[in-house]
Parts: sequence; C-alpha cells; structure tokens
Amino acid sequence: PRVAVVFGGTSDEHPVSCLTARGVVGAIDSERYDVIGVGITRSGRWVVVPPEQIAALQVEGKKMPELTEDAADAMLLPGSAGAGGELVERTGGGTGLAQLGPVDVAFSLLHGPFGEDGTIQGLFEMMGTRYVGAGVLASAVGMDKHYMKMIFERSGLPVDPYVVITPGDWHRDREQSLKAVSALKYPLYVKPTRNGSSIGISKVDDESQLLDAIDFAHRFDPKVIIEEGLENARELECGVLQSPGGEAPLVSAVAEIRMHNESGFYDFDAKYLPEEQVDLDVPADLDDATTREMQALAAKAFDAIGCEGLSRVDFFLTADGRLVLNEINTMPGFTEHSMYPRVWAASGIDYPTLVDRLLQLALQ
Ligand code: DAL
Ligand code: MG
Repeated sequence: PRVAVVFGGTSDEHPVSCLTARGVVGAIDSERYDVIGVGITRSGRWVVVPPEQIAALQVEGKKMPELTEDAADAMLLPGSAGAGGELVERTGGGTGLAQLGPVDVAFSLLHGPFGEDGTIQGLFEMMGTRYVGAGVLASAVGMDKHYMKMIFERSGLPVDPYVVITPGDWHRDREQSLKAVSALKYPLYVKPTRNGSSIGISKVDDESQLLDAIDFAHRFDPKVIIEEGLENARELECGVLQSPGGEAPLVSAVAEIRMHNESGFYDFDAKYLPEEQVDLDVPADLDDATTREMQALAAKAFDAIGCEGLSRVDFFLTADGRLVLNEINTMPGFTEHSMYPRVWAASGIDYPTLVDRLLQLALQ
C-alpha cells in the first residue's frame, strides 16, 4: 500500500512532529509499504519530502528540527495551502491528495492545532482517504482541554478542579473570571486550552504570578484553562491501542515520569532536549491494583471521546493514592524514544509492529 505520511505543520509543535516523522518513517517496512512524505512548513506550505530528507530531521544540540521549503529538492504541490488554491481534488474510490497519485492511507503525524485537532481528519474524510487514528470529533475533543474535561466528567472519570476562561469571559468580566480562579488551591497550572508539549503552560505558585501566566497562555490560545496543581503527585502515562476486531481497546504497561529539572514540571525542554533532567520508568514501580485501575480508566477515557487508533493517556497519582486523569493525546509523540512506543515495547509490541498495526487498522 501507498502511505502518505503528513508531518510538520503550522502549530507550535512543528519540530516535535518532524521528530515523530523521522521515527515513524524509519519504522515503516519499506518492503510492504511505499512511503510518500508530505511535509507542511510552519507557514502552511505543503511540500513533498523524500524519506531520506525526513531521516535527517533531528535534534542538534538544543536546536529542534524544522522543515524548510528549500531543504533539498522539495517539490511544492501546486496551489497548496497558504496560496488559497486547491491542494486536493475530490477523487473517488478511496484515494486523495490528487497530485500525489493514489494514496491508500494517510498517516498524519501532526501534533497540535491544525493537525491533531480534527482539521486534517476532516480533509481526509472529504477526500475519501483512509487515515490512521482518531476521527474528527475525537481529535477535536482531544485537543481542547476544556471540552475534554467536560466529557471526562460526564463519563464519571476523575478530573481535578479547573476554571476555563473563554475569550468572552475575559473580555466581558475579567473580575468574575479571577474570582472563579480564586476558589482554586495553589499551585495552579495556567494553560492554553488547545496546544501540546506543555507550550504556553506556566506553573503559578501564588496570586502575584497569575496575570502574567494568563497573558502568556493567551499568546497561544484565546481560551485558557487553569487547573489545580497537585503537590507531590506522581506523573503516570499509558498507551491505548484500538483492537482489530472491535473488542475493548488494548492498554499498555504504565510508565512514570520523574523530574528533577528547574521548572519542576514536565515542560517542553524536559520532553525533548536530551540533557534535561527527566527519568522515565517503563514500567513504573507501581502496585498491581493501581496499575489495573489506571488501565481501566485509560480505556474508558479512550472510549469516552470516541477515540480510534491510538492515544496516550496521562494521569497523576496523588500522595493519598487517588488517580486523577490529566489528559488524552490522540497523536502522542511517536519517536522510538517517546513514551507511547516505549510503553508498548514494555508490553511486547515493538516499534515497527506498532506502526504496522496502526496502518493495518486504518486499512481494514
Ligand atoms: N503533544 C505531544 C506530542 C505529546 O502529547 O506527546
Ligand atoms: Mg496534550
């Protein structure tokens, strides 16, 4: 089958997507699949990127990779996004991306808005192209921490107190919003509702830092969410994978993230820069009952948003032993060293097998 791997993108997580693409393309069995790289530059241009060029996208020192238009002999797709023209033509019979020739399956490795949030999934739907992973609604909900939490609460999943400040709230009655926030217990985390990789997030220890943190989050999203921080909570994650026959989703081993970095939380640098002070324990040193409880909650979260394909579900375990659901990621970081492949490797599914399973799920 021909696979269009879509990566890069206009979101702040562009470089993370480049890393993910490098890993996934390297793990796709080239005897069985024909890979065509479709990169989206930060400015929104769509370019065809040969696999060798994807293989060169890596972290250099502290510099994250970036897809540039002039990087090698990338071919611009005529009239592609940004130029206001047509990238795609509607084609029948399960193919799409007309200029690329027939594509059997699209594998979007975009992280963040305009990629992980249902937008490109909608494009694939319109084109009649099969694609890996969550559909339009699940992707949109998985990107928006506000609606995500509403669905989790409604599904009886454990969520800690939070306040959402919509653009309207902030515009019309700032005092009211701040009053709502004052009911939360410090420390707080102030976040853009729709972003990933901890971009735009601040940890706020007291009220004096609150407005700056809100301003900072507003640089990334007009809608902000403020969550209660949990002191001394352990940070745990696990992977969920759709079952081929429609059975309950599979849930991986549980991993723990242990930080000893400056910011005191799992921020962007800790996530991606090799020398940052983070230890990942895969599997986590955790009792069986808590592990099983977390796995059941992760499967429930996956179903709650109507997810398909894959997701990584992130939790906190409070000092008094309570599991709190933090969030679900419908296109988690996916290099060989990322948490999602690692928890599956610890569960007996290696990286190439995982990638193949996801492609097969989309093709079935
Ligand atoms: N948003 C990043 C890619 C993650 O969840 O892993
Ligand atoms: Mg996320």
